[in-house]
Amino acid sequence: MSKIGLLGIGYSVPEKVLTNFDLEKMVDTTDEWITQRTGIKTRHIATDKECNSDIIVPGAQRAIQMAGIDPQEIDAIIVGTVTPDYMFPSTAAMVQKKLGIKEAMVFDFEAGCTGFLYGLDIARGLIATGNYRNVLAIGSDLLSKITNWKERNTCVLFGDGGGAAVIGTRDDAHELIDVKNYGDGTLGDLLIQPGGGSVNPISNTVIDNDLQYLQMGNGPEIFKWAILDMCKVSKELMDKHGLAPDEVDWLIPHQANLRIMVKVAERLSIPEEKVVITVPDYGNTSAGTIPIAMGRYLEDGRIKSGQILLLTAFGAGFTYGAALIRW
Ligand code: ACO
Repeated sequence: MSKIGLLGIGYSVPEKVLTNFDLEKMVDTTDEWITQRTGIKTRHIATDKECNSDIIVPGAQRAIQMAGIDPQEIDAIIVGTVTPDYMFPSTAAMVQKKLGIKEAMVFDFEAGCTGFLYGLDIARGLIATGNYRNVLAIGSDLLSKITNWKERNTCVLFGDGGGAAVIGTRDDAHELIDVKNYGDGTLGDLLIQPGGGSVNPISNTVIDNDLQYLQMGNGPEIFKWAILDMCKVSKELMDKHGLAPDEVDWLIPHQANLRIMVKVAERLSIPEEKVVITVPDYGNTSAGTIPIAMGRYLEDGRIKSGQILLLTAFGAGFTYGAALIRW
């Protein structure tokens, strides 16, 4: 019987690169501090003229090409993002327009940095209904657009970019063995963009108080929850499928902070050389980190056919999840 899985994957980032040394000139920080505390060295940043759909469309095209299908065979486009092109219409609709896809269900959803894993979950569910054959699941964010570039606590952490996967049912699909996601709204205030929604609609007061920017309440607290929650859901999935740590070929964690990733691997008893690491080059691209990381390791041949991949993420909401893929 055909398997539900990934038929193709692609990623794309803006061309412009911002280094830690560039940031030294913008805020009171140092390359040494950023490197030691986060592992980040550079990040890609969109220009004023580039929006989320502009950035992700080349990645989506690569995913469709790898899947070997006609774009018209995509019957749903779903985008996990907290930085859409507009409040509405959806970024998914903009992607549809730019890809020239005529008939597809299109919608965005918000799951913070867990967007790609929520997308895999939703895609699997849509395909299981029998009404959709090929789902383009995207995780893409331009956090630079909602970053306060005067605030050193946050601006050094983020970057722009995203990735896309075509999910479908085929004998040669890279099997989506399982995916499980959670949320915990009681911690929502810790990572929030307070302005622009129905609580604080755009106004001069919002702008005067910088509420249009993302705010991170307590870095160390988020650090702690990120480790706890990613380990919990990863362990749940490994136990459910009787998977020992040494059977995982690659751990692909959300790329927010190298120290978080190392701790997660340690607690899951997965050695560091099996951890996919791209955070030094891209920073935290929110919903984009996992498909970018996967894409990079696939293109240089490090991820090989038949290998077991454990994906795990944590983000605003809070949200967290994990997925198992047999590549
Ligand atoms: N440059 C220099 N110094 C800085 C900077 C900076 N860019 N930012 C903060 N500092 C200072 C602080 O002011 C503080 O100074 P103080 O001791 O005089 O008060 C000091 O550095 C240490 O601050 P801490 O917050 O204790 O540093 P910590 O080691 O926890 O690292 C960090 C901070 C990197 C934010 C870490 O807590 C972290 O990564 N947390 C997770 C947050 C995260 O990943 N958020 C992203 C979104 S959520 C997600 O993607 C899951």
